[in-house]
Amino acid sequence: MRVLNNVAVIFSATSTKNAYSLAADIVSSHLKKETPIVLLGFPMTYNKDKLSIAWEENARKVIDSVTKGLDVACITLGDPMTYSTFGYLMRTIKEKDPDIRIKIIPGITSYQAASASVGQVLVEGDESLTIVSGAPGAKKLKDIIDHSDNIIMVKVYHHYKEIIRTLDELNLTSKAILVSHSGLDGEEIVHDLKKNTDKIPPYLSILLIRKKD
Ligand SMILES: C[S@@+](CC[C@H](N)C(=O)[O-])C[C@H]1O[C@@H](n2cnc3c(N)ncnc32)[C@H](O)[C@@H]1O
Repeated sequence: MRVLNNVAVIFSATSTKNAYSLAADIVSSHLKKETPIVLLGFPMTYNKDKLSIAWEENARKVIDSVTKGLDVACITLGDPMTYSTFGYLMRTIKEKDPDIRIKIIPGITSYQAASASVGQVLVEGDESLTIVSGAPGAKKLKDIIDHSDNIIMVKVYHHYKEIIRTLDELNLTSKAILVSHSGLDGEEIVHDLKKNTDKIPPYLSILLIRKKD
């Protein structure tokens, strides 16, 4: 908040579909009234050409403010270096103008928040922890299950049913906990994943899998 209240403009990524930023919503009541929050629209697509046009346009908006002599900040959910649109924005800004000084302020990731909500250790002693994305489906879970003691799966929303089926095949259903809206209104912690398998959780949902009892 100290940084956010000392910049001229705040940028926040949003989907071009709905022009809403939860990150902006969270910080807005703590900001000085006069600080503008500019939404940077990113299309929710895997089309590389469309994405690179959006990164270029958005990076240009940030660079334009900085070259006017303004200090600006970009906000994101959780940590900016973890599965965040900020990574793409940062790389594009650096390519276009390597002299712009960028300072990263680390955030609390969704899986740190979720493990704290559940009160379950993420990783300890000699154990390993692997973080995977469920966006392409359950395949990555199968790939790493024998090589990691603890697994975090983000982006479980699209292929939720397939992921739950795979957990069952791997005898991991009782070891997995689903956390939705961690740290937010409506936070939900589900231990018994075999119940309600038809209910697709919201986008902000994460699976914590700990093999050890
Ligand atoms: C684009 S990534 C953002 C990750 C974020 N930068 C972080 O530090 O965790 C979005 C995914 O992170 C997870 N996520 C983010 N915020 C969450 C929350 N409050 N509760 C549960 N999962 C969350 C979900 O798996 C969601 O699909």
